[in-house]
Amino acid sequence: MKTVLTGKKILFGITGSIAVYKAAEWVRELTKAEAQVTVVMTEAATRFVSSLTIAALSGRRVYTGMFEPDAGEEMTHISLARESDLFIIAPATAQSIAKLAYGFADDLLSTLVLANHAKVLVFPAMNSSMYCHAATKANLTRLQEYGYGVIEPEQGKLACGDEGIGRLVDWERARESILSAFADQDFAEQTILITAGPTWESFDPARHMSNRSSGKMGYSLARVAKRRGARVILVSGPSAIEPPPGVEIINIVSAQQMHDAVMEHYSSADIVVMAAAVSDYRPGKTMEQKIKKGGKSIDLELVPNPDILKKLGQKKKRAEQALLVGFAAESRHHIEEGQRKLKEKNLDLIVINDIIGKDTGFGADTNRVSLIDRDYQLEKLPLLSKEECADMILDKIVKLLQ
Ligand code: PMT
Repeated sequence: MKTVLTGKKILFGITGSIAVYKAAEWVRELTKAEAQVTVVMTEAATRFVSSLTIAALSGRRVYTGMFEPDAGEEMTHISLARESDLFIIAPATAQSIAKLAYGFADDLLSTLVLANHAKVLVFPAMNSSMYCHAATKANLTRLQEYGYGVIEPEQGKLACGDEGIGRLVDWERARESILSAFADQDFAEQTILITAGPTWESFDPARHMSNRSSGKMGYSLARVAKRRGARVILVSGPSAIEPPPGVEIINIVSAQQMHDAVMEHYSSADIVVMAAAVSDYRPGKTMEQKIKKGGKSIDLELVPNPDILKKLGQKKKRAEQALLVGFAAESRHHIEEGQRKLKEKNLDLIVINDIIGKDTGFGADTNRVSLIDRDYQLEKLPLLSKEECADMILDKIVKLLQ
């Protein structure tokens, strides 16, 4: 299936760290995403894993020496460098980082980096003390000054038995960095506040009322906005979804808590996207003790929760100008209801989705939305994955920002 990475020519440099086994997995994932991965290994890397294994994973020949015997008159490093769309170096050892920092070209990999014109992403992996050493820090700073992306390793248990920073990041984090390298950074300098997921309104310590929101739509928006360079603040109700890397997450439970978190961060946001399914009501009172079943029916009074989006719309009237995007979860009269909410809540954009379709709305991995902007321009999107849907919503926001 076509992906963002389909056909992308990726040069993948592997250097001599025990974390080579994780990089091999990345080669496999990138190849699965239909990227054309050409791996270049240092001599040291071949001591950790054979070039044959890597060739099997990438489906392409693997380079290790400077000049391949059968390269003919065409210099390998020039032809490989000329064609690449992205250059990844993972794992990057302290030694390879030092060589790149000073422009050495004593093997194919370091020579390729100098001859390369594409974006370079460096993923360090080493013992904590080595990573924290001033020399390594200075070398990494130099790489950043060259415009290379340096993705900080993780904390954790290292191959040498130490605990600390130095573990090669996992594939999820690497994937986001790679996709970000291919994405327009059209949200750089923007802070986007996104809400996601349901809220829980408690009756007693054991019971609450809620809805079927999984958080997928809001988390997709956060993931894609981050990829496109935004600072992302994600206010999330209870959700099983792993927060996207690099996103500032604020976990809440009730609508009131979501309200408080949104109002606290509103002033630092350029854009607010309310994708959360906020409960409109909560029990009039939450019992201290668990309500014991007594066999007879129970009447529970429900009182309205604050309408967060409406309050933001009112603040906007008072010229506090975050661009305001709301969602409408509708089962009928979708466009009319969306237009009403757009006007009533003083929105810049409303995203209308159907919540009774089997592949749209709550819990689905896909969604089919209609967008109506403040000029009542209607745009109907086809059924898309929630990530693609998020991309299109963000494209629309870019147009509104202009
Ligand atoms: O999380 P998923 O499983 O991926 O499902 C996605 C979704 C269906 C939850 C999402 O696409 C969606 O439609 N979210 C909005 C759900 C909702 O509450 O819609 P609504 O029409 O009831 O509310 C209208 C807008 O007002 C929404 O932006 C909502 O966040 C906001 N609102 C609602 C109630 C309230 N008290 N305060 C609010 O701010």
